[in-house]
Amino acid sequence: LNEGIGHSHAKAILMGEHSVVYGEPAIALPLKNIDMTVTITVRSDQQQLIHSKYYEGTLRDLAGSYEGIRQLIMRLLTQFNANDLGFDLRFASKIPQERGMGSSAATSIAIIRAFYQLFETKLDTKTLRHLANIEESITHGSPSGIDAATTSSSDPIFFIKNKELTPFKIDIPGYLVIADTGVMGQTGLAVSSVRRLFDEEPSSTRRLISNLGQAAIEAKQALQDGDVEQLGDLMNKAHGYLHALGVSHPHLETLVKTALKNGALGAKLTGSGIGGSIIALAKDLHDAKRIAKALIAAGAKEYWISPLSADSQAE
Ligand code: MEV
Repeated sequence: LNEGIGHSHAKAILMGEHSVVYGEPAIALPLKNIDMTVTITVRSDQQQLIHSKYYEGTLRDLAGSYEGIRQLIMRLLTQFNANDLGFDLRFASKIPQERGMGSSAATSIAIIRAFYQLFETKLDTKTLRHLANIEESITHGSPSGIDAATTSSSDPIFFIKNKELTPFKIDIPGYLVIADTGVMGQTGLAVSSVRRLFDEEPSSTRRLISNLGQAAIEAKQALQDGDVEQLGDLMNKAHGYLHALGVSHPHLETLVKTALKNGALGAKLTGSGIGGSIIALAKDLHDAKRIAKALIAAGAKEYWISPLSADSQAE
């Protein structure tokens, strides 16, 4: 083939961000039914060129926050014995960067799929995630792997670091309102600040982390029982623990409070925090729209509404 195309989608962590890095379970949802996708097209060409909204130039000069992407592409070329291959790689992404939506992992997943298609090679999920985590480790420090797992999954996942994934179906009413503060989160920084807190105050930090893990376990049960109110309560608790871990932000606090004041059953930051996005749980679409409107009035830059039971929607 002289062209390969790869797709992926955004993700939202419902419960368990940060604590997942320490081996606690987490729940994450692929956001497949809203307009947050990434498509990578790679074509054989003369030079090694990258075209994206943020970067136009050669692979060799790709640097800064794209170092992980550069190394991933180099690794793929080496793997296919094609270090000197000329290509033209185009990004088309609707996932905002550094907002807790898994933009970097989704980009890597789509790049890997595109190159495997170009080289007409079959790709299994384990290899796909392993390769994506090469980029994630360079971009974010010591990631748990949850972002690569969710952006390559069609189903919600119950995730424990270094364990086999348990995908599961969700059959529960309720909608998620995702709202972007417009402030860039910084996953690497957030993860290392929790690590520092852990070193400085081990016992209280360990308690917060295990409380987050427990809330994720209870949330899985609430999802299975179809109990949206209980899920909302657990999201509120989780947000409190994350705030105590120091990964919230004044804009996140404003949005969480606004969502609750406007009828959300629960609301929390999602992803690494210190900026990025919140998720709010609404009992129905009508409430979701009202909450979204209030979030925009309170300063959110953008919002998305996704049914919780979205796993049957086509990509
Ligand atoms: C980032 O989406 C989630 C974190 O838990 C980091 C990780 O799991 O790698 C903050």
